[in-house]
Amino acid sequence: MSKIPAHIIDEIMQTSRIEEVIGEFVNLKRAGSNLKGLSPFTDEKTPSFVVSPAKQIFKCFSTSKGGSVVTFLMEKEHFTYPEALRWLADKYNIQIPEDEPATAEQLAAITERESLYIINDFAKNYFAQNLLESDEGKAVALSYFEERGFRKDIIQKFQLGYCINSGDDFTKAALKKGYKLDYLEKVGLVKTKEDRSFDFFRGRVMFPIHSVSGRVLGFGGRTLFTDKKVAKYFNSPESIIYNKSEILYGLHFSKGDIIKYDNCFLCEGYTDVISMYQAGIQNVVSSSGTSLTKDQIKLIRRYTQNITILYDGDPAGIKASFRGIDLILEEGMNVKVVLFPEGEDPDSYSKKASTSELEAYIQEHTQDFISFKADILLKNGETDPIKKAELIREIVHSVALIPDQITRTVYLQQIASQFDIQESIISNELMKLRKNVLSKQLQTPELNQLQVPTQVEEVQTNEPTLENNAENSEHDLIRILIKFGTRVIEVEQLDEQGEATTAETSVTEFICHELDKDELAFEHPKFAKIHQLIVEGLAENQLLSSTYFRQLEDQTIVQFVSDIESQEYELSTKWLSQYNITTRSESDRLQEAVFHSIYNFKSSKIEAHIRSIQVRLKEAESMSDEELLDALSEQMTYEKIKIAFAEKLGRIILR
Ligand code: CTP
Ligand code: MN
Repeated sequence: MSKIPAHIIDEIMQTSRIEEVIGEFVNLKRAGSNLKGLSPFTDEKTPSFVVSPAKQIFKCFSTSKGGSVVTFLMEKEHFTYPEALRWLADKYNIQIPEDEPATAEQLAAITERESLYIINDFAKNYFAQNLLESDEGKAVALSYFEERGFRKDIIQKFQLGYCINSGDDFTKAALKKGYKLDYLEKVGLVKTKEDRSFDFFRGRVMFPIHSVSGRVLGFGGRTLFTDKKVAKYFNSPESIIYNKSEILYGLHFSKGDIIKYDNCFLCEGYTDVISMYQAGIQNVVSSSGTSLTKDQIKLIRRYTQNITILYDGDPAGIKASFRGIDLILEEGMNVKVVLFPEGEDPDSYSKKASTSELEAYIQEHTQDFISFKADILLKNGETDPIKKAELIREIVHSVALIPDQITRTVYLQQIASQFDIQESIISNELMKLRKNVLSKQLQTPELNQLQVPTQVEEVQTNEPTLENNAENSEHDLIRILIKFGTRVIEVEQLDEQGEATTAETSVTEFICHELDKDELAFEHPKFAKIHQLIVEGLAENQLLSSTYFRQLEDQTIVQFVSDIESQEYELSTKWLSQYNITTRSESDRLQEAVFHSIYNFKSSKIEAHIRSIQVRLKEAESMSDEELLDALSEQMTYEKIKIAFAEKLGRIILR
């Protein structure tokens, strides 16, 4: 899909009413000029979720989430930015240009990607109709599903279908409809050999594979034969819309319950998902057609930190679950395992058992990964010390993959007590393995930026106040920029004769000039980005206001800006009278507030410099005399600058 044009984004944002949209998810009651309700993000009893129709923002005081209507949809529905905009456009009947297939010309201009979606959508409907309405479909396919115990409503929900066994029934229908053969081949629905085109999935029952928002990306097709020589499943090939390693079967249907139960059941197959879902356990997905990938785990992480693997207890299933455990731990998530009796999968088991029996089985057989590995590797109460040592090493190997140190330590303690060994011994082994993991990850460029070396972690925790200071002053200056950037203040300037005069300038221009002059920048990435946007705006003679920032794609910024704005609300209810006085004064004595904020910003930067020199000086023994002198004089320079700032700005502040 192509990008949504900026003017359409504007229109969407201006037309959307946050109170209407959120009202679809939360029961909102009027509270003064705002609306209040129970937070949809937690399980609270007293309402702490506030929507401001006037400002078009929301704030959840229990989770501290907040932002625009788009932020809300991204948080609640886990939409991407464009998905949220499209949802709104749909609700408010705003046409997004490329979304309307109308004339032949426009059809031709539709991107290839869009064409593939349209074809898959057509195929899904066509196959479903075959299944439910054609004689052949009803006789062989619908009866097959019914025999397997799939309910009609579930068949329809998952949009299951059937591809007629004649050879080119679908191909003919699709070509007649005007779809290009080239595209039909690209999505893998049609194969052409020696000028003859035929249906790739002929005679198979069809499982459409949906994106998170419900578009059909590809299909799995199961044979109706039990002949071992025929591949049980055919799957769509990879295409520009179908990247197997980034898709989970069932997620479109299960995401709500995954969030609700804060856990995701992960199975092996299409039918497992459907049967679990039918049995009422609806927080379930499968990695169908591929072995589990990192990207699939990251996809689950959008909804929960907890995964429970539900695999067949045969050797292949056990092997797959070992692999899955390590991958999940490596992503910093929590993993549990349920093994079904050998030869059973969640689908077959749920057919034999009632829903409550299935639930009970899962509950009773859920193991943490340490016990799971121990049970498997140490069958029948193995007592051989060498075997036991191997096992412990194997388990510690998995623990070493966990990025978070505290979590590693907790598991280390569990291993020590479970196997009755001293913690220090395991801890040594863990450290060795952890080093291996880190050095491997450092060779993978993608991970470089994610993996913070342990040393840095320590430095940061040692000096929390310093970090906070710098961040607070950055935060405050950005707050002033966003809130008052377009306002005008008087500043002193030297005229051509060197005489001091006063001039008027915008807060934004003044602050940007001050920072530019001293070559100062924001460290915090979010603030740096906001600052950069403001500077770019200035270059085009534009002063950016909070309205501008609230429409950005980057929701961390949207949330930040709304937070600044909703602080007014928070304060005005809690400390009404007191607060009103403060705002009025900040707004009234704007010049002072601006100077104050710049002064703090600059001095915290300088203090950071001085501090780093002091750290260097601590290692003075290892320094040459020359280096020592350099460092000292550098320190003095900064101290002087600090005083100069205080003089220049402090004069105004203290007045
Ligand atoms: N799979 C595949 N190709 C195959 C076999 C399996 O893509 N030749 C994938 C399918 O996504 C399948 C999953 O691996 O759903 C698990 O395989 P399996 O357990 O063999 O199939 P089930 O899903 O259990 O299917 P059924 O219950 O119909 O036998
Ligand atoms: Mn099965």
